[in-house]
Amino acid sequence: MIKINNNYLNIKDNYLFAKIAEEKRNYVKNNKNADLIDLSIGDVTLPLTPSICNGTINAITNLSNKDTFTGYPPSSGHDFLKEEIILKDYEKNNININKNEIFISDSSKSDISNVLDIFNSGITVAVQDPVYPAYVDSNILRGNNIVYYEDILNLSHDIENNKLSIDILYICSPNNPTGKVVSRENLEIIIKLAKQYNFLIFFDGAYEAFITQKNTIHSIYEINGAKDVAIEFRSFSKTAGYTPVRLSYTIVPDKIIINNTYINALFKRLKDTKYNGPSYISEYGIYNLYKENKFDEIYNNIGYYLENTKLLLDFFKSKNLIDKTITDVNSPYVWINTPNNIKSWDFFYELLNNYSIVGTPGIGFGKNGEYHFRFTGFNTKENTLKAIERMKNI
Ligand SMILES: Cc1ncc(COP(=O)(O)O)c(C=O)c1O
Repeated sequence: MIKINNNYLNIKDNYLFAKIAEEKRNYVKNNKNADLIDLSIGDVTLPLTPSICNGTINAITNLSNKDTFTGYPPSSGHDFLKEEIILKDYEKNNININKNEIFISDSSKSDISNVLDIFNSGITVAVQDPVYPAYVDSNILRGNNIVYYEDILNLSHDIENNKLSIDILYICSPNNPTGKVVSRENLEIIIKLAKQYNFLIFFDGAYEAFITQKNTIHSIYEINGAKDVAIEFRSFSKTAGYTPVRLSYTIVPDKIIINNTYINALFKRLKDTKYNGPSYISEYGIYNLYKENKFDEIYNNIGYYLENTKLLLDFFKSKNLIDKTITDVNSPYVWINTPNNIKSWDFFYELLNNYSIVGTPGIGFGKNGEYHFRFTGFNTKENTLKAIERMKNI
């Protein structure tokens, strides 16, 4: 008789964002004239930039012409985009990446989840708390064991003292939701440890383009030895405003060996088996951005979001609600301690009912997110300023 995969019963309903949306709907229904400001948005709001739009139009022109029509892409994406990525994301920072190490995909979320297929189920993964919830859910679905860490140095001490053995360590830097970045020194320690204790590092750089702090790692491959132990995920969603179009890439170095097997070859096998490649139109949009070196266009949009985020950071700093370790804006997120240490959902209702403002309760990102709250810089500058003015007496 057919049986379901019981792991699907073990993941929590996607209750956080669904509940926020429902509360928003109810509020608007009951307060018809309220001017609700949404600072919970975890999605881009500015339109696609001209070079990207022109790229997608060029792609359509190519596909409408018999001589330039092209069918299924390679499962890891086209070389024309890989060559640009190598040159402009890595070579310019003296990092060597080969074309066969790049897997262009439609989404980091799916790559982060699907890559687990090439490992045994029941492995142990270390996940930061709080963090982007997809790491936890995808590991629950695989039947893996999850250990949570708050501080990467404490985690590394536990590994060194044989208190803990892990197979994969997730690092999200800059972190969603806290915006914190991992330091070069800590990464060096972790990479050494990964080699010594045979675990892999999954480095999620979805927000690397938002880093403003000097001397901060953008790619884990800036550290010597990382190519022996680390897979890196990059997404064009927030970087290039590509959430409605979809594109990302994953670097799987060709020298990582587990059980005498190259995992690059296994990931290729996985892609060839389960995926028919990213959309040509989507790739071409990003290709044109790279080819024409129009990075200023996307950095203008990122700059706009960062300016809003900085306004929020400075405001909450003035209220003493920001952790002392956070000095710069390195993501579109501001992570605050709730006023008077109230629970994150209680703060949600207080903001909604007293100030007509929506944010995201920290508990949705993990147990350590309780008594914290996330705001984003994705709304307009006008609304961000208006929200700050409304909250001046919190
Ligand atoms: C840390 C992190 N990684 C990955 C993703 C998903 O990227 P994509 O849109 O390419 O699936 C997100 C989306 O919010 C994210 O916050």
